[in-house]
Amino acid sequence: MKLTSEEKDMLAGKYGEGIALAMEIQQAIGEAFEAERMVEISRVHVALSNQEADLWFVEKLLKKGNKCRISPTVNPPYNLEYFKNYIEFTQEEVDIIERTRKAYREIGATLTYNCTPYLENNIPRFKEVVAFSESSATPYINSIYGARTNRESAQSALCAAMTGRVPEYGLLLEENRRGQVLVEVEAKIKSDFDYQLLGYTFPRMNDYHDTIPVFVGLPDKISSEALMNLGAQLNTAGAVSLYHIVGYTPEAPNIKAAFQNHQPRNKMVIKDEDIQETYSSISDKKGEIDFALFGCPHLTIKQIEQIVNVLGSRKFSVPFWVCVSNLTKSLARKMGYLDTIKSAGGHLVTETCIDQPCWKFLSGKKGVTDSPKCAYYTKRRNMSFYIADLSRATEAAIKGELR
Ligand code: F3S
Repeated sequence: MKLTSEEKDMLAGKYGEGIALAMEIQQAIGEAFEAERMVEISRVHVALSNQEADLWFVEKLLKKGNKCRISPTVNPPYNLEYFKNYIEFTQEEVDIIERTRKAYREIGATLTYNCTPYLENNIPRFKEVVAFSESSATPYINSIYGARTNRESAQSALCAAMTGRVPEYGLLLEENRRGQVLVEVEAKIKSDFDYQLLGYTFPRMNDYHDTIPVFVGLPDKISSEALMNLGAQLNTAGAVSLYHIVGYTPEAPNIKAAFQNHQPRNKMVIKDEDIQETYSSISDKKGEIDFALFGCPHLTIKQIEQIVNVLGSRKFSVPFWVCVSNLTKSLARKMGYLDTIKSAGGHLVTETCIDQPCWKFLSGKKGVTDSPKCAYYTKRRNMSFYIADLSRATEAAIKGELR
């Protein structure tokens, strides 16, 4: 790779050992992907995982004595204070969480602790080059804003935050952003939840291993929540970091532009029965539940409002949790939604992810969620879920069963 003199100095340790190590790792990644050079970036999001390996890496960089050149926003670890009411943590678990928070603070991260920074405080402009990890974030950044990021890991994103550079390969290059498969959506996609199912259906039917779908046939108006859902499921189920919606996303004003004047490599039609088949393959349609868990990705204030509207003055008959950002919780408090949910026996939990050991007390239990990603990730903790749209899932939490 060709490095600038400043990048060579970084590698040689002129700016400190932490930056030198980060640059060494990035150079190796760049060579693996045959990148020709590094490019400067302006934003980073690190999907910290609060696991030993993640902690080992951030502490290793920290001990070498550098801070991030670009302060990254970060994913949620979990909220120790809140979950002390439910489980007894081992000393090892307490250490990991406390050291993770301390290490990211000291290395210079912006401690947002949420997984939807692209809707709140880390929003790039068109064609801006950035480094984002986190499955719902990467497709949103690429597809909806038309900014450019590869599907970074927490560690490669942290290296980018240290050096302010990324190796130029993959989705940073114009030609690699070309659509691959034309997806004609004949199915009726109406609700935000339908986008969850669409996001699962494309990878399920994708025999070609294409990872850049170009959707046609979707409605003219699509909510931010629907796009968040679509990206989360596409990336979780199919490693899709970029998609185009013709007439909607910035790099796809028309089909020709989406395919950069080439023919699609493949074509696919998604019908109502395909969406139904996806749903049947990931969830039973009804049954009794022990709890409700929403917020993967973290729900927005609009979604909290939707829950409150369904709830009215009724109470939940099973434990009810929603993972949200600090901003959403603060808005919910001001708007009276938090009081309504609390009075019904529910909780808005901040700085927490559904994929963390804090939920181990739910092992062996059956819940309801609005998120296929939540149902998929929590299998490893022996939790099982019915999946339903937000309104129906809220109703299930009130009734104690999905009807
Ligand atoms: Fe967010 Fe964790 Fe789900 S980071 S998207 S709640 S797996």
